[in-house]
Amino acid sequence: MLPYFDLTGRIAIVTGGAGLLGKHHCKAIASAGGIPITVDIQGGDMQADITDRSAVERVCEDVLNQHGRIDILINNAANNPKVEDGSKALSRVENFPIDQWNDDMNVGLLGAFHCCQIFGGQMMQQKSGVILNIASDLSVIAPDQRLYKQDGIKDAEQPVKPITYSVVKTGLIGLTRYFATYYAPHIRVNALSPGGIEASQPKAFLDQIASRIPLERMANESEYEGAVVFLCSDASSYMTGQNLVIDGGRSCW
Ligand SMILES: NC(=O)c1ccc[n+]([C@@H]2O[C@H](COP(=O)([O-])OP(=O)(O)OC[C@H]3O[C@@H](n4cnc5c(N)ncnc54)[C@H](O)[C@@H]3O)[C@@H](O)[C@H]2O)c1
Repeated sequence: MLPYFDLTGRIAIVTGGAGLLGKHHCKAIASAGGIPITVDIQGGDMQADITDRSAVERVCEDVLNQHGRIDILINNAANNPKVEDGSKALSRVENFPIDQWNDDMNVGLLGAFHCCQIFGGQMMQQKSGVILNIASDLSVIAPDQRLYKQDGIKDAEQPVKPITYSVVKTGLIGLTRYFATYYAPHIRVNALSPGGIEASQPKAFLDQIASRIPLERMANESEYEGAVVFLCSDASSYMTGQNLVIDGGRSCW
């Protein structure tokens, strides 16, 4: 491995690390020699709800007791509604529940803020560190709601990608730029905006979305690992405040 991609001994907190992509972020960190620590409401190395500031403080204390420092924070946890497989009740704008709005904002933005504040505060004391915020291609484009249309449902009742997803992911880019300058020059802060991952969605949906992506397919779940190592390592040492979009070219069309 080229030396600037080396993460040997670096302590990396990965929120939402028990989820689909979080596991791959951890694999990427470990493959470069780093030590990933998952923080997830469902368990993982440390069970914690990132919307609860005192829970994040406790995680920080525990990590410092065990490892003495924190080098990397990956803000990856979010409510991630799967519109395409109909697994979650969906809300159109006209009757969007305020509780869902608050919950999505709390996990996706307030949780990321708590982690930047607390783990970032520790990195500032160390005068070094890296923060990576996991956004989405929907941080740079609007959802194409035609993708989620289902036969036999009235237009006014068609499922849609919820507004909160776009707001959270676009908000994370603002959070990225804010902390990139606030914590400069000691901590670098960037965002990664992945396109959708193929995970047994209905074939009709896969065909539809492929037709909107220049590379003609969704991502496979390991295709962001290289970017995670790049953004968390010295390979990106002159990069901060940026949003790396990896979406098979979808947003350039
Ligand atoms: N899967 C995709 O196609 C895709 C595409 C683009 C961006 N993303 C983004 O990547 C990230 C990971 O997505 P994923 O597909 O792995 O989702 P996922 O739902 O599999 O994982 C999210 C994890 O976050 C955890 N979590 C939720 N609320 C939490 C809280 N309050 N405190 C701590 N942990 C909490 C969940 O328990 C879960 O393990 C998300 O930010 C998502 O928006 C995913």
